[in-house]
Amino acid sequence: MTDRDVRIYEVGPRDGLQNEATPISTDAKLRFIDLLADAGLREIEATSFVSPRAIPQLADAGELLAQLTRRPGVRYPVLVPNARGLERATAAGADAICVFTAASEAFTRANINMTIAESMSAFRPVLQDARERGWWSRGYVSTAFGCPYQGEVGEAAVVGVARELLALGVDEVSIGDTIGVAGPADVRRVVGALLGAGIAPAQLALHFHDTRGTAIANVSAALDLGIRTFDASTGGTGGCPYAPGAAGNLATEDLVYLLDREGCAHGVDLDALMVAAHHIAGVLGRPLSTKVGQAGAWRLP
Ligand code: COA
Ligand code: ZN
Repeated sequence: MTDRDVRIYEVGPRDGLQNEATPISTDAKLRFIDLLADAGLREIEATSFVSPRAIPQLADAGELLAQLTRRPGVRYPVLVPNARGLERATAAGADAICVFTAASEAFTRANINMTIAESMSAFRPVLQDARERGWWSRGYVSTAFGCPYQGEVGEAAVVGVARELLALGVDEVSIGDTIGVAGPADVRRVVGALLGAGIAPAQLALHFHDTRGTAIANVSAALDLGIRTFDASTGGTGGCPYAPGAAGNLATEDLVYLLDREGCAHGVDLDALMVAAHHIAGVLGRPLSTKVGQAGAWRLP
């Protein structure tokens, strides 16, 4: 990787769809994942092995993962909150998992019914098994920039949770602005604290929601800080039932456009990505509302 290479970690099939009320067929999700891989995405978070009562939209996780046609060179991580999730994911053929907790106690309780400390205890055996099998793993730190229940979240809490996850053996942590409240100064503050605590840029991903239109500015600030992995959702869908007020993720097409203008290599073809974006908008029965989704790429006259 050169210094200008960026990893785009696609969360559309998981974060993007988990809060959609319209039931989406497994086939439509599988087609979405195929189109994302066609566009050049190499990390596609496919689904979640969580309680189907907590996230009904992803209740088909087992069928979906088992039916997925895996492309060589593409990683398909899945969310796993506990031992039961690991068992289900294993049966469906997973080889890359994400555990998820948060920087605020109130959100962690609402989302996974655990304290942050309990979440670490639940993840320890899960991550140990994953490591023994040679699986890739990631840990999410949600509400790192603000909590829908507690409000402001201090960077010390984010650093503490990120370090605990790394100590449990995750390959990287994804620092999430779950409700979309951060601006560039917050990114400098939180990422500065993480780097200052000795966490390497390569161990960090940033996960922005575009609730207030600041996601792309936040990516730009993070690029300046040396961060090279960004989560995004094709079509700009996204949200969490336990994060009231959250809107869609940063749209992958908006991210790709920015990275192209910044001269960053990322391996994703914008025209092919738009096919995936239109597919999912069609499945959801609404027009594509992302900036680049509406304007398209810049074609010289
Ligand atoms: N997969 C499927 N079912 C699961 C499960 C899993 N990974 N973990 C628990 N369950 C089931 C249990 O079997 C039990 O079912 P039953 O009531 O029919 O017997 C029920 O869920 C409750 O189990 P319990 O262990 O008491 O969990 P809980 O009610 O404390 O919920 C979580 C904890 C983590 C399972 C739940 O909060 C959850 O799935 N949260 C995920 C939220 C999410 O995905 N948010 C978006 C991502 S940020
Ligand atoms: Zn998210």
